Amino acid sequence: MTKTALACIVLAAGRGTRMRSDLPKVLHPLAGLPMLGHVLKAAAALTPERTVVVTGPGMEDVAKFAAPHDTVTQKMQQGTADAVLAAQSKLKDFSGEVLVLYGDTPLVTASALQKLRDARQAADAAVVVAAFEAEEPAAYGRVVTDEDGQVTAIVEALDATPEQKTIRLCNAGMMLMKSPLMWDLLAAIDNNNAKREYYLTDAVSLARERGLKTAHAEIPAEAALGINDRVELAALEHIMQQRLREKAMRGGATLQDPQTVYFSHDTAIGRDVTVGANVIFAPGVTVEDGAQIRAFCHLEEARVGKGAIVGPFARLRPGTDLGAGAHVGNFVEIKKSAVGAGTKINHLTYIGDAEIGAGANIGAGTITCNYDGFRKHRTSIGDGAFIGSNTALVAPVEIGAGAFIGAGSVITDNVPPGTLAVARGRQVNFENWARKIRGEKKDKP
Ligand code: UD1
Ligand code: MG
Repeated sequence: MTKTALACIVLAAGRGTRMRSDLPKVLHPLAGLPMLGHVLKAAAALTPERTVVVTGPGMEDVAKFAAPHDTVTQKMQQGTADAVLAAQSKLKDFSGEVLVLYGDTPLVTASALQKLRDARQAADAAVVVAAFEAEEPAAYGRVVTDEDGQVTAIVEALDATPEQKTIRLCNAGMMLMKSPLMWDLLAAIDNNNAKREYYLTDAVSLARERGLKTAHAEIPAEAALGINDRVELAALEHIMQQRLREKAMRGGATLQDPQTVYFSHDTAIGRDVTVGANVIFAPGVTVEDGAQIRAFCHLEEARVGKGAIVGPFARLRPGTDLGAGAHVGNFVEIKKSAVGAGTKINHLTYIGDAEIGAGANIGAGTITCNYDGFRKHRTSIGDGAFIGSNTALVAPVEIGAGAFIGAGSVITDNVPPGTLAVARGRQVNFENWARKIRGEKKDKP
């Protein structure tokens, strides 16, 4: 089969009033990525030559997110056909197939979209609609087919006859059309319907009137699910999480209690990784083979090296890079820091803006004091250094390789390699002091 050029148009002009939000609907995230991002990702997998996103007036943040793709503004929302026509200026000279997608159906997959391309080429159709069998067709447009399986029309629920309403084959919304032919069809669409809108779906009956072929591609119902309010947002997040959990497990990770682990769209989990209960992976996390993420951890923009152990109860903030076999224990927070292979930071510690070498031991309660109230400063700790418990490292400061820091120190000066530094008040014992203050004759045992 020859490869036909593809362009995508993503409709995202809807204000999404039912979200009751200052943020445009398509920018609300699912698994840490705006829903529009999921749609663009699915489209990108088909390697289109161009993608155009249709936004509404004042939606500059959507255009910013969609970049480097082109965006056009649909001035007034007069329906899905009008929205597609808004993209015509960017695709005037394009010849091939144009795929129309909705920015608010983030569960759509590349394989579902590919079905439209396959169906179009198999039938040499001018228009292909994505259809699914709905349990509850409710407000979806009904796909009317003839005896050869060609689509004769899509009838919106509001315009459907009682008989048409019983059809369970529904319009998922995505549509594939031949370009430049499609622009003639779209220009002929009127708004003579219940909503007084220009319906993209009318392209089907217009194509048939002109003797052109039409077809439908059946896609999974899940791929058609749209988001209109925050209840649906949560429902789709749930489905998305389930997909991501299964992907991690099929990739060789053990999730002790999958329902309590939350992934981001881009979480990369290696083989033989174990994830305990109640772990959250915010965007940008890579966990390499054999690492363990124990219960109740929160990770974001971080790399966990091979065989490292994190948690329980640890927080890895953006810019954390844990070397192979490193240990990060309970109530430890790390940010913008590299931790060398095999280094242990096991209890109650804050490491920020630091480089720690390999094989170091960071005692309980160590704090890198990285902020002086105005600026952030760096701490450097060499290979094999030992930081005693409850040490404050006042940055900028360097601890040399193999150095020891006495517990309870406040370190403000650099410590050369192999040196012991102790920086705390020396202990004084006052003999018999307690007996005297109690006015007793003899010390109690
Ligand atoms: C549409 C279909 C319906 C299908 C359903 C699937 C039409 C006429 N109807 O109905 O057959 O079953 O989707 O979900 O196409 N949009 C714009 N500009 C507009 C209008 C809409 O950009 O002027 C965008 C919306 O932001 C949304 C998408 O197009 O992303 C679909 O619009 P929506 O109003 O949700 O269409 P439905 O009534 O759901
Ligand atoms: Mg809709």
